[in-house]
Amino acid sequence: MPVLLFISQIEPAELWKRALERSLPGIEVRVWPEVGPRACVDYVLCWKPPAGVFRGMDNLKAVFSLGAGIDHLSDRRALPEGVPVVRMVEPALTEGMSEYVIYQVLRFHRRMVDYDAQQSRKEWRVLSQVRPCERRVGIMGLGVLGQDAAAKLRVLDFDVAGWSRSEKKIPGVQSFAGAGTLDAFFERTDILVCMLPLTQETRGILNRRHLDRLPKGACVINAARGAHLVEADLLAALDCGHIAGAALDVFHQEPLPTDHPFWTHPKVTLTPHIASLTNPETGARAIADQIARCESGSLPRNMVDFSRGY
Ligand code: NAP
Ligand code: GLV
Repeated sequence: MPVLLFISQIEPAELWKRALERSLPGIEVRVWPEVGPRACVDYVLCWKPPAGVFRGMDNLKAVFSLGAGIDHLSDRRALPEGVPVVRMVEPALTEGMSEYVIYQVLRFHRRMVDYDAQQSRKEWRVLSQVRPCERRVGIMGLGVLGQDAAAKLRVLDFDVAGWSRSEKKIPGVQSFAGAGTLDAFFERTDILVCMLPLTQETRGILNRRHLDRLPKGACVINAARGAHLVEADLLAALDCGHIAGAALDVFHQEPLPTDHPFWTHPKVTLTPHIASLTNPETGARAIADQIARCESGSLPRNMVDFSRGY
């Protein structure tokens, strides 16, 4: 019977084990650190696996990430050559991210940050409002998550553009492709949403030079990875009034240190890396489909291309 090893220090392991056993009746599910003989492990499903964990797993058929991002697999060089590494794609993760993005876009669009400040001063004042078709949302990363959020923001009639490596044809969404279009993309964006994978090319991409390209009064939503953002550059842009607000879900250091200025900054709303979470039920079903493919001799879907870094 094939063996799947589940590794995560933060996910509810028992919940996942039960969900995996329901979806994978023909698979033995083990939970780290109860590994058993390492050479008998066929599949690993993991989030931030400890260093050296893959040592001795010489018969691995695939490594599945519990998240959409695979940057947590820093130990992947220890993997046996040619073992596919697979991103998590499952419906609840996609829905959750679009909910988070729509919620934050609407907060900025409807000026809830200003109304919160007014409430704290017991100030009753009506602020000007523009229509969604006059609000330019710019999505960095038009992959599984970015495309879903873009389509849903279009339903709300926002003026949506996206930036990706390759050109996209999404109805009603303007496509900017490649590094050469980044300035033009920033210049047309009132609400910026980052949903990029963390790679050598995208690390630090939300930096002073690029933030300066946004129109004055723009807002920034980072739902991707903390290392996309140069935190000091955002703080400076918020403090000088160039950027009006930021919604941050991810940080260089997580948990965010208690003395970090983001905690108390009046223009920052933050959440503890919960923009979207993989759901054990739907996630387990997605893994079951992938394992069925592997067992029938096909390659899994959503394999990481390490030459691109995502
Ligand atoms: P994906 O399907 O792989 O999409 C990645 C997108 O980014 C693609 O459109 C890709 O362009 C684009 N991209 C990558 N490198 C680029 C570059 N150098 N220049 C321009 N565009 C680039 O990934 P996904 O499933 O949507 O997930 C995206 C990220 O969201 C994850 O990697 C993870 O970091 C983050 N995430 C965060 C949370 C949270 O709770 N905060 C939850 C889930 C995911 P092409 O389409 O041209 O390839
Ligand atoms: C969460 O951060 C993910 O990558 O799914």
